[in-house]
Amino acid sequence: MPLDPTPVPTELRGMRIALLVAGGIAAYKLVDLASALTQAECQVRVAMTASAARFVGAPTFRGVTGQPVLTGMWASDGAPEPHVFLGDWAQLVLLAPATANVIARVAHGQSDDIVTATLLAARCPVVVAPAMNDAMWSKGAVQDNIATLRQRGMTVVEPEAGHLASGHVGAGRLAGPARLMEAMAEAVRSRYDLAGRRVVVTAGGTREPIDPVRFISNYSSGKMGFALAAAAADRGARVVMVTTASHPAHHGIEVRPVETAEEMLAELRERLQGADLLVMAAAVADFRPAKLADSKIRREETKRLTLDLEPIPDLVATLGGEKESAGVFRVGFAAEGSDLDAKALDKMKRKGLQAIVANDISRKDAGFGSDYNAGVVLFADGTRQEIERMTKREMADRILDLVGPRLPAMR
Ligand code: C5P
Repeated sequence: MPLDPTPVPTELRGMRIALLVAGGIAAYKLVDLASALTQAECQVRVAMTASAARFVGAPTFRGVTGQPVLTGMWASDGAPEPHVFLGDWAQLVLLAPATANVIARVAHGQSDDIVTATLLAARCPVVVAPAMNDAMWSKGAVQDNIATLRQRGMTVVEPEAGHLASGHVGAGRLAGPARLMEAMAEAVRSRYDLAGRRVVVTAGGTREPIDPVRFISNYSSGKMGFALAAAAADRGARVVMVTTASHPAHHGIEVRPVETAEEMLAELRERLQGADLLVMAAAVADFRPAKLADSKIRREETKRLTLDLEPIPDLVATLGGEKESAGVFRVGFAAEGSDLDAKALDKMKRKGLQAIVANDISRKDAGFGSDYNAGVVLFADGTRQEIERMTKREMADRILDLVGPRLPAMR
């Protein structure tokens, strides 16, 4: 009989979840949980203790998650430190079923297997779901260890009372999937204010070709766009970055490389469906050569060259009127040399944006190509926030601090 997967709270959708499985009979229940999470577009990676692997085979988890399963301190490809990889990668850890033994080892900071070592290497919220025999659960030693885990900031989902595998009736059953999901969602909510959100960021200066080897572009480095994409990803959003520039790799950012404004528009149309936020940090060209020469324009054959340029439609304004981007909160950028507020306000209105970030390009110590920026953020609701000179990453977080609470309710 096919079972419907447990509903997955919106905040968990798209999250990178490390499922650490210890050796209890309830390990089999984690297969369904891993499957439900995977079906809700979460990325789930499983690591299991040697005794867990006696209850459920690694291929079962591999099958439902589509990801390799770690069963020891050495990955199958021989890569060293798989625990550090998994700890870095995870946005959330669930340890379940947490046996008395694994709880004791975690409480004492042991790290001699893949499960305990990953827990020590994790940088994200940890949810622990104990399951054991009722007598074991009631012991002072176990309860003291549980208190230690709580004190260290882990969330403990208490086991439920009921029939136990030993035949006894009492407290010790692994909490049901709905409670596990809710505890995970709560842990995510408290750490990631953009969990469950889809964010699209554009970055870099578009390149408009003149001939097969030349183009018209601008000084935009794409650093502000990358800072915004990285900040949104670190705050739990699923991020697509449509960019002309190259950037360092970053967890949670899907990069879509483009060159021209036209390619950027086509990519945005596809990517904006279901998105919550568009941040147009790209410096999109305003004009492009009306004709593209099919072969290299030769200096020897050309005395003087005049380029005929045609206007490029405003991407962000065009998208504003299309159904693909209905409901998407749109933030534009305005690079201005003077009268920041007045010019930005005018642009925000003309382009139908919900907010605009104006940055001062007359400054020598910030802006184009720099790691620093400064400016002012204006919202259609009248809010105005000055941003003094700071790193682009800090500015990205300030912008998201302001934008996050103004996003429409999660769909
Ligand atoms: O009008 P201006 O180019 O200064 O406006 C800048 C803002 O408009 C940026 O957010 C930029 O990404 C966007 N833009 C656009 N399409 C264009 C030009 C600019 O979406 N063709």
